[in-house]
Amino acid sequence: ALSLKGRDFLMLVDFTPEEIRYLIDLAIDLKKKQKAGEPHQLLKNKTLGMIFEKSSTRTRVSFEVGIYQLGGQGLFLSGSDLQIGRGEPIWDTAQVLSRYLDGIMIRTFEHRKVVELARGATIPVINGLTDLSHPCQALADYQTVLEHKGRLEGLKIAYIGDGNNVVHSLMMGAAKLGMHMSVATPEGYEPDSDIVKQTMDNAEETGSRIQICRDPKEAIADADIVYTDVWASMGQETEQKEREIAFAAYQVNEELTKYAKKDYLFMHCLPAHRGEEVSEGVIDGDSSIIFDQAENRLHAQKAIMAAIMS
Ligand code: CP
Ligand code: NVA
Repeated sequence: ALSLKGRDFLMLVDFTPEEIRYLIDLAIDLKKKQKAGEPHQLLKNKTLGMIFEKSSTRTRVSFEVGIYQLGGQGLFLSGSDLQIGRGEPIWDTAQVLSRYLDGIMIRTFEHRKVVELARGATIPVINGLTDLSHPCQALADYQTVLEHKGRLEGLKIAYIGDGNNVVHSLMMGAAKLGMHMSVATPEGYEPDSDIVKQTMDNAEETGSRIQICRDPKEAIADADIVYTDVWASMGQETEQKEREIAFAAYQVNEELTKYAKKDYLFMHCLPAHRGEEVSEGVIDGDSSIIFDQAENRLHAQKAIMAAIMS
């Protein structure tokens, strides 16, 4: 049988389609158990350290509650309070934390840091968002799509906006899961070219079609899922004004969503800026499933932890 014991969870591209489906199925199963009040203490007495060098609401709370529901405990570690904030090498930090903990979740800026932490650690490391990717989000999102649409393969997801960490993970996931994806970004804000290349290679194997384009109308045409994210991510606050100008034609609103399928679903990883990347009517409308996505962060991350830390 498939086992992910001891693995890191850094990028979706590191996992086979079967492994990703396994995690989604496990998330759905753990969700059912939690709702039914059935015990599922798969990580009894295990401890997850959670390093945060950026803000968080969903990731922090869902990981902490998740490990608790699995019978373990979470330890919030602020990056600025840890000695890494004063220059202690990541390698040493990784070695030391491995002597106390059973798993580490880290949210930081440079992706390289997470890779280094995973290399130095003898316990599983989970990427809780870097400037490059946000795999926990994409896993929870595809669980959410499956629950709403009953399938993943062949669905079309349109992403309108910034070529950022969230779209990178969504693309990698789509290619693995046989979904089609169209991404529309302004010039200069395209997704990372290495990620695009990897995604295209994976897509060829699964029959998924991935398109990167300029025109939001072209991207959204006949989409089953319409996704957007903030125009300025954490760490890009000083670019807010210039980005508002660059992205002005990329708002997901009632005008644009006319071109999607009638039964399209709107998704956003949150936090959102109403009136910027999405209109109030769309994000708070009947097609929006943003809070189901947010909830599924809990279930998907429980699946990840249970699979790699047990
Ligand atoms: N979507 C997401 O990761 O939210 P937080 O920044 O609140 O964790
Ligand atoms: N792209 C956003 C996602 C937040 C969950 C950011 O990195 O700030």
